[in-house]
Amino acid sequence: MVQNAKMSQIPTLSLLQQTDARHHFHPFSDNHELAQIGSRIIDRAEGVYIYDIDGNKILDGMSGLWNVAVGYDRKEIIDAITRQLHQLPYYNTFFKTSHMPAIELSELLAEVSPPQFNRVFYTSSGSEANDTIIRMVRTYWATKGAPERQVIIGRWNGYHGSTIGGASLGGMKYMHAQGGLPIAGIHHIAQPYWYGEGGDEDPEAFGIRIARELETAILEIGVDKVAAFIGEPLQGPAASSFRRRATGRRSRGSAISTASC
Ligand SMILES: Cc1ncc(COP(=O)(O)O)c(C=O)c1O
Repeated sequence: MVQNAKMSQIPTLSLLQQTDARHHFHPFSDNHELAQIGSRIIDRAEGVYIYDIDGNKILDGMSGLWNVAVGYDRKEIIDAITRQLHQLPYYNTFFKTSHMPAIELSELLAEVSPPQFNRVFYTSSGSEANDTIIRMVRTYWATKGAPERQVIIGRWNGYHGSTIGGASLGGMKYMHAQGGLPIAGIHHIAQPYWYGEGGDEDPEAFGIRIARELETAILEIGVDKVAAFIGEPLQGPAASSFRRRATGRRSRGSAISTASC
């Protein structure tokens, strides 16, 4: 066991890999295959580099999972977190309470965001945020007297998370196959992926045609039925198409990282 091995010395790579394979279920992975080859054990990180257990220094080109925007081992962040852990490690804001970090961060985010984004709702992940968006957007329209505005339009191959709502908004068919997704009221339009969509159309014309799919879908579904459109500013699986001016210009106008009503 890792725990026993730790007591005497640092466990060997193969012992860590075996224990990982036995007890750790990896997301987005063929766990059977991974158990055969053994996972790479990341041991520490500094700046833009990660180091595996064998001491190999690796440039972390993916920034964690695209979320370590300012790099690793930042003293000012460690100090701020440590101070906050001493002062108030947790408190909810459900029941007429608030606290300094929530107030200060909300104000800061409102300051640096476009003027129409001036209030912040906190979640712990992107998937949770997008699940929340489904309820929030539909409730918004219901309170505005338009409860029939329920449909949210996303893109095939868009990625919006791994929860039931997030995976439904996303356009990964293999995720939809897991558990009967998407949920009702989600409509997918084509992805702005020139190569993936054949790559034989004039790129400029392709970009405009794909951007127009949103308008076409809204008109087909009915303006009074559509609640929101959700799209990544740069669609990961289809990012290459954004090299094309037409697609980039048109898509940026309609796609923001959260749903737009
Ligand atoms: C555009 C986008 N939305 C949502 C998510 C889901 O975020 P999380 O993994 O924090 O649930 C991701 C994650 O990569 C993402 O890239």
